[in-house]
Order: sequence, then C-alpha cells, then structure tokens
Amino acid sequence: MLASPEVLRRTGGRRIRSIVYDEAAIAARVGELGGAITEAYPDGDLLVLGLLKGSFIFLSDLVRQIQRPLQVDFLVASSYGSGTVSSGEVRLLYDPETTLEGKHILVAEDIIDTGNTLKRLLAILGNRRPGSLAVCALLNKNLMPDPPPEIRFIGFDAPSAFLVGYGLDHAENFRHLPFIADLE
Ligand code: IMP
Ligand code: MG
Repeated sequence: MLASPEVLRRTGGRRIRSIVYDEAAIAARVGELGGAITEAYPDGDLLVLGLLKGSFIFLSDLVRQIQRPLQVDFLVASSYGSGTVSSGEVRLLYDPETTLEGKHILVAEDIIDTGNTLKRLLAILGNRRPGSLAVCALLNKNLMPDPPPEIRFIGFDAPSAFLVGYGLDHAENFRHLPFIADLE
C-alpha cells in the first residue's frame, strides 16, 4: 500500500506497510465488545482496569460502549529479570486505589503476544479475591499454547506482524495513530 501524505505526516515520514485495522473497523468491533460486556455483567460492581500504557486509547473507547455502571482504574506492570524478553517476574508499579474484593474485575489490554505478562498479572489480581476476573484484549496473536479461561473478550485475531497505532507503540512512537498498522 502506498502511504497517503496524511499518514506520512502523522508518522514523520516513516513508512508503514499497510493499515491492518482502520478507524471504522476498530470502532465497529469496540462497539460489539462493549455490547458483549454489558450483557455479561447484569449485576454487581464492575471495575475496568486498563493496563498502561498500550491500552489507553482502547480503554477510553471501550468504556464508552459499556452501558451499565462501572468504575475505571489503571494498572502499570513492569516485567523484569530477562531484559527485553517478556518472561521475567511481574511487579505492579501502580496499583488501583480501590479494593478489588468482591468486584467484577475486567482487565483491558492492547495486545496479547506470548501472554506471559498477562498470566502473571492474573495470578496477582486473583489473590485479591475479586468476585470475577476477566480480560478484554483488543488484539490476540494466538501464540499462547494454553490460554487461561480469563481471556474472555477478544477484538481481533491479529497477524504475527509487529503492529503499531491506537495505543500500540514501537519504542514509544506511533501510539497516537487512529488506526492499527504494521511497520515497514
Ligand atoms: P506478552 O507478555 O508477550 O503477551 O507481551 C504483551 C505486550 O507486549 C503487549 O501488552 C504490548 O505492550 C507488547 N506487544 C506485543 N506485541 C506487540 C505488537 O505487535 N506491537 C506493539 N506492542 C506489542
Ligand atoms: Mg508496549
């Protein structure tokens, strides 16, 4: 695909190979996810936890499509132990201020790759005695051999390419793109 001048202006001239999910496709799917989540939680307290930073745009669009009372907070997780390989331990750098006990906890995540971070995070959150625990991920690369049952809501089965935009970064760049693209 030839990148349009508008796209090149947003990326500072760096080329993207193709737009994988455009704004309309994302909006339609996020609307469906919001509907499914609304149906899935007929009662109880719902706390949506956005895993920063990648989920920030998805989270803000998603919660506006959920038509029931809810609260929003954030999680900042840090993996450490093995450099850039996401297999080390996970530590919470920011922890929600409100209690999780007895509440429906829904973690909003941008993309599941190996799922290692998420698995460790679910173990930490599960110890807080939530009423229920589930994950809503916009994208899933389906690389997890044994995905945990908490992964309940998925936007798209993503290709194995490296994706940027709509919150997803490459070295902190491209998060602001309104669409999801793969890098050249
Ligand atoms: P995992 O622990 O391997 O599942 O890594 C998940 C995290 O890696 C995501 O939350 C993203 O921050 C990042 N990540 C994985 N794949 C991509 C990608 O294609 N583009 C941008 N970030 C990615
Ligand atoms: Mg990232």
